Amino acid sequence: MSVRVFITQPIPDPGRGLVAGCADEVDQNLEDQVLSTDELRAKVAGCTGVLCLLTDRIDAAVLDAAKGCRIFANMAVGYNNVDVAAATERGIMVTNTPGVLTEATADLTWTLILGIARRVVEGDHEMRTGRFPGWGPLYLLGGDVTGRTLGLVGPGRIATAVAERARGFRMAVLYAGRRPSPEIDALGGRMVPLDELLATSDFVSLHTPLTPETRHLIDARALSRMKPTAYLVNTARGPVVDEAALVDALRSGRIAGAGLDVYEDEPKMAPGLADCPNTLLLPHLGSATFATRAAMARIAAENLCVALRGDRPPNLVNPEVLSRLSGEAAGITS
Ligand code: GLV
Repeated sequence: MSVRVFITQPIPDPGRGLVAGCADEVDQNLEDQVLSTDELRAKVAGCTGVLCLLTDRIDAAVLDAAKGCRIFANMAVGYNNVDVAAATERGIMVTNTPGVLTEATADLTWTLILGIARRVVEGDHEMRTGRFPGWGPLYLLGGDVTGRTLGLVGPGRIATAVAERARGFRMAVLYAGRRPSPEIDALGGRMVPLDELLATSDFVSLHTPLTPETRHLIDARALSRMKPTAYLVNTARGPVVDEAALVDALRSGRIAGAGLDVYEDEPKMAPGLADCPNTLLLPHLGSATFATRAAMARIAAENLCVALRGDRPPNLVNPEVLSRLSGEAAGITS
């Protein structure tokens, strides 16, 4: 049977070339545009593998249309866009691209920390609009970074890389999560309950995956625990924050500001967010460097090719699918 792969959008080299080397036929959406559920269903029908992106909603309807497909290789570390349980039920492997975007995302987190505290976008706007009145002792004052307290929520790889950079700023590092992080402990960090982190940090930076437990983790109550001088930074997933509650907190001065790279309903923003001057708003650029995106495309393609060969892909997020697949191969139906 011919091995057919669908790639849902243009991706950087060497992604497509690698896929072409392990498939008989490669179909690719050549528009930089997210496909609808109906379009995806039509494209994935008859495919042996699919290389998809975090903007593709891979739900049960899409997976049903992909009958016989072995793998959905997601070109992202986060995979909340894929209904993994539904994929497992249908015997489809799901993979992600961890590791290669850690440094780029940590760098962007720091761009937001420094940019929001030092009012970089407001300053740039002053210059471009000819409003700079000249140096003044009270003009565009911002928050301090060096020596302050950084609170990391979700102590995984990216949080660890953010903590490494915090050493250069002589910051105290706190973190909250489900289990201790020996890596962040080794960098001088200290695990605390989330409420304590919120109440004592000058910068609260989010690094959790999006799960039912972390959806709206930062809601009105959590925001009300933060210091009025503190900043919220989110380079993880938008729905971890209740964006309407954040707008209220920013408008009322409940917190000092927010640096965001992700939004609850991308590419839209909550009404009022863009009007808050105490925000630095980026369009989901965490992994957007040439080298990082190339590495993500390579890893997604490698995962896909390994699965097409019948082997276990290195970044399988639903290993439980393997027992299901071996049961089916042995003729056992559940
Ligand atoms: C980016 O947001 C990713 O999950 O890869």
